[in-house]
Amino acid sequence: MFNLVKGTHDVILSEADKYTFIEQTFVEIAQAFNYKEFRTPIIEASELFQRSVGESSDIVRKEMYTFLDKGDRSITLRPELTAGTVRSIVNNKLLALGDFPIKAYYVGPCFRYERPQQGRYRQFNQFGIECIGINSPYRDVEVVSLAYYSLKMLGFKDLKLIVNCIGDDESRNNYKEVLRKYFESHLDEMCEDCKDRFKLNVLRILDCKVEHDQEIVKQAPKISDYLSENSKNNFNKFLKSLDDLEIEYEIDDSLVRGLDYYSDVVFEIHYTSSKGLNYGALCAGGHYNKLVQEIGGPNGVEGCGVAVGIERIAAVMNDDNLFEELDESIDCYVMPMNETYQKNAIDIGTSLRLNGFKTEVCLENKSFKAMFKKAIKLNARFAVIIGENEVNNNSIVVKDLTTEIQEEIALESLTGYLDMKMNEHGDEECDDPSCSCHHHHE
Ligand code: HAM
Repeated sequence: MFNLVKGTHDVILSEADKYTFIEQTFVEIAQAFNYKEFRTPIIEASELFQRSVGESSDIVRKEMYTFLDKGDRSITLRPELTAGTVRSIVNNKLLALGDFPIKAYYVGPCFRYERPQQGRYRQFNQFGIECIGINSPYRDVEVVSLAYYSLKMLGFKDLKLIVNCIGDDESRNNYKEVLRKYFESHLDEMCEDCKDRFKLNVLRILDCKVEHDQEIVKQAPKISDYLSENSKNNFNKFLKSLDDLEIEYEIDDSLVRGLDYYSDVVFEIHYTSSKGLNYGALCAGGHYNKLVQEIGGPNGVEGCGVAVGIERIAAVMNDDNLFEELDESIDCYVMPMNETYQKNAIDIGTSLRLNGFKTEVCLENKSFKAMFKKAIKLNARFAVIIGENEVNNNSIVVKDLTTEIQEEIALESLTGYLDMKMNEHGDEECDDPSCSCHHHHE
């Protein structure tokens, strides 16, 4: 027996169907917003994340799965997908085409060496989008609204959208200066991490989770008092546009986000499940003005993106019963009377499958009784039986397991017959003129 690696989990059977359903919902909405899929490698050069997510972030300092490959290259399992997506946009020279914005969506696993807890894994899945190449507060609104509408589509109510503006370069440089002065006098009583953060990027101190340090952070000057005119104007337009869309939000000036590439608008969406559990942010993102340049692209190309944690969404949807009942039934169970008819059974099964009927074929020598038992267990609608008579007559016996009606029909009309049966409405009146059920129409 092998145990799971700490912080990983199997997503199997109906749980995997739920993940697929969540991902498909996000993908469909992203496609409706005209985003295109990007599939980038899970492994990237470590330097990509050092440069983008940033040397001062917890992710790069403590959480990356980094190793030397056999060619002595430093490789990292991606902790997020923004860096790889922007890298691929730069490497593939998509910026040179001049078709802006470039709109990318992605789905896939990420890896962070974090302390596993509720809603926090070492391997987890993200869906996300990046919108790159135009500079407009309405691009940020579009990104937020895509995440917001997708969650609504999945059945979420009472979403809590938290937004903040962390300013452009000018605002942040002024603010950092003020913060440095403020924290300098408190540094002695703060944790070792904060002492490092002070040297690397003083803004990161605002993220500190140590209780005593948080008290000091609470009294720190606020970025909102140091925003440039340009940042303030754009943030106001962003908020006004959210108001117009009737998307509710709260402004939280302690929201700074743990990745270094952000500037101006940042946001997170939170939700507390009916069980009172909060799994952390369901999704998070923001605007970035230097990331493209850091990764080797031209100056002045801005972007905005958001990523959702699929694990957290599945956990909340399970708690709040937001998943519809999954249909585990099948259409047909094909039963050969004995091994002589196995080949016929396989042929019929193949034809049913290729015609879109969900079908199992009995592949063992089983008694008639055992096969029926299996058909019931599989929740099959029809038992499709083939034996000597049927082969001689070029026919097949179909038993409808819901009505117990059994009929022998010509092999060539099998799929038409099943289609007709599946469209019947029992005893209910049917007023659908396109319906093939001939029983209930006048
Ligand atoms: P992030 O806040 O690090 O942002 O992660 C985004 C989402 O991924 C989180 O809100 C959470 O739902 C999920 N997540 C993060 N870590 C874990 C974990 N250990 N276990 C389970 N779920 C987790 C980013 O990754 C940015 N790249 C988002 C972005 C896109 N910003 C701009 N574009």
